[in-house]
Amino acid sequence: MKFILRFLRPYKIKCMAVLITIIIDVICSMLVPTITADMINIAVSGGSIDAIIQRGILMLLVSLLSGGCMLAGSWLCAKLSAGIGKDIRNAVYDKSLEFSSADFEEFGTASMITRTLNDINVIQQAFVMFIQMVIPVPFMCVVGIFFAFRINRNMGFLILGATLFVLIFAMFIVSRASRIFEKLQSFLDRMNVVLRENITGVRVIRAFNKEKHETGRMKKTFTDYAVSAIHANRLFAGLDSLAMVTINICVVAILYLGGNNVGAGTMKIGDITAVTEYAIWILFYIVMAQMVIILVPRAIICKRRIEEVLLKTPEIKDGTGRLKDKANVSGKAGIGDCDVISFENVSFRFADADEDTLREISFCCKRGETTAIIGGTGSGKSTVAKLLLRFHDVTGGRILFKNHDIRDISQHDLREHISYVPQKAWLFSGTVADNLKYGNSGATKEEMIRALSTAQSDFVKDLKGGLDAYVAQGGTNYSGGQRQRLSIARALAKKADLYVFDDSFSALDFKTDAALRHALEKEIKNSAVLIIAQRISTIIHADRIIVLDDGKIAGIGRHEELLKSCPVYRDISESQMKGGANGR
Ligand SMILES: Nc1ncnc2c1ncn2[C@@H]1O[C@H](COP(=O)(O)OP(=O)(O)OP(=O)(O)O)[C@@H](O)[C@H]1O
Ligand SMILES: [Mg+2]
Repeated sequence: MKFILRFLRPYKIKCMAVLITIIIDVICSMLVPTITADMINIAVSGGSIDAIIQRGILMLLVSLLSGGCMLAGSWLCAKLSAGIGKDIRNAVYDKSLEFSSADFEEFGTASMITRTLNDINVIQQAFVMFIQMVIPVPFMCVVGIFFAFRINRNMGFLILGATLFVLIFAMFIVSRASRIFEKLQSFLDRMNVVLRENITGVRVIRAFNKEKHETGRMKKTFTDYAVSAIHANRLFAGLDSLAMVTINICVVAILYLGGNNVGAGTMKIGDITAVTEYAIWILFYIVMAQMVIILVPRAIICKRRIEEVLLKTPEIKDGTGRLKDKANVSGKAGIGDCDVISFENVSFRFADADEDTLREISFCCKRGETTAIIGGTGSGKSTVAKLLLRFHDVTGGRILFKNHDIRDISQHDLREHISYVPQKAWLFSGTVADNLKYGNSGATKEEMIRALSTAQSDFVKDLKGGLDAYVAQGGTNYSGGQRQRLSIARALAKKADLYVFDDSFSALDFKTDAALRHALEKEIKNSAVLIIAQRISTIIHADRIIVLDDGKIAGIGRHEELLKSCPVYRDISESQMKGGANGR
């Protein structure tokens, strides 16, 4: 309830207006049979035609008012639901931006998509239907039963009994169905995961001839969903039939008892019509409401899933400190004078891991210098980059950015000063220019061309449209090497104090790799550069090489020093020399 109230707060006036239209509509709907009864009674007792015409005009006005309120109510409801849907989606999106990778993984990409699209849609639909179909029910019951009691006590009790019976049964069904809907929603998540895997991994599936296996997996997920959905629908079909039977029994009882009462002179003939209509209206509304109630348990589950996201305390708490100065890229290369980033005894363990991924890591990156990290796969190189961008928080030690602990400064400010090329080159759908502007929204054409040229991406010139050449989602219409170079260009378009290249040269041939590093040296000489690499040739000229071995630093120094002092580095170097020799 709190959840809905939180999002309803900005729409208080609209809610009140909807409620008023509902109440007027209900009263008008009940007045119509009352006026009909009156007309019949006048006619039966031989009253004047004028009196009947008068009642007819009154009935027309009441019907017009009821129709008008219904129309206004629907329009307000549609606006209300669209507004609330938008607000919830924005809230979920804003929250997800605060999440670290670990927070995000807790939900999973597929589930986050289902939550943001499907779950909020269900809440929105349920909300509109609930207001239009369920909220009028209590008013309808109260007004209808009151009108029935006014005519005859027994009739009042009859309608009250039938209403209570259907309501209690409906509550029982809804409580049983909610468990099924909970399962249904998790099956939906599962379907999303399997479908996404199948669509994105279609080439791998074909290459390994796994079509049959995947079809089986899909069938199982679809069947699980279908079985639960059929179960839930069966429950509601039972409820529907019961309500219809109750309406009919109630009408028969009214006609029987009413007939006797008319015979005994305690009721007028027109009153039977009125009471029958009250009963039909009330039970009809309950039947309609239960069709909507089918959505309610589902919406409650969806609401809970959205709340899980909104109430999640992000692993990373944003710092309040500000970095006042902009990225210093034009200053002199004060070699050795300023540590842009320094790791002090940093240890890190993933939330779901049994042991530390990084242990006692200490090093620094200085302005004007190139620092390199080398090590085997899984030694923790990318984790170092993720820690300094604060995608995760250290579990021991601290990381300083320009002498500020990165936990004390806002993530926005921190990332504003760092330019990062992730290990997996990811481009956004749009044009090459759009992607470059992602790094620097104000980049001029000249700046973009310069960044492309430094990143050895001159191939863009030959593309149809040049800077406006089309980029598919993820950059899949480019080769791995081209993607890497474009993502390097994107990082270079941004002015930063620190440039981080996470294994960004691996898909480049040796010649391009060398040309790119040479161009980089000139282009970003006033910033600190951190290169993570697997190939010794990429980092051979670095000012400081950090050798990572199973999350620990095995050695720090220049190439020649490490060859003498660090056995791990020597091993890597020798294996690559041999590989190179064999390859020749
Ligand atoms: N999200 C995660 N949850 C748990 N463990 C993780 C996670 N990401 C990485 N790891 C583990 O942390 C270790 C270091 O991973 P990292 O990605 O830093 O390696 P790397 O040195 O960059 O390897 P590569 O050269 O293959 O890119 C690995 O053993 C990996 O299994
Ligand atoms: Mg890596």
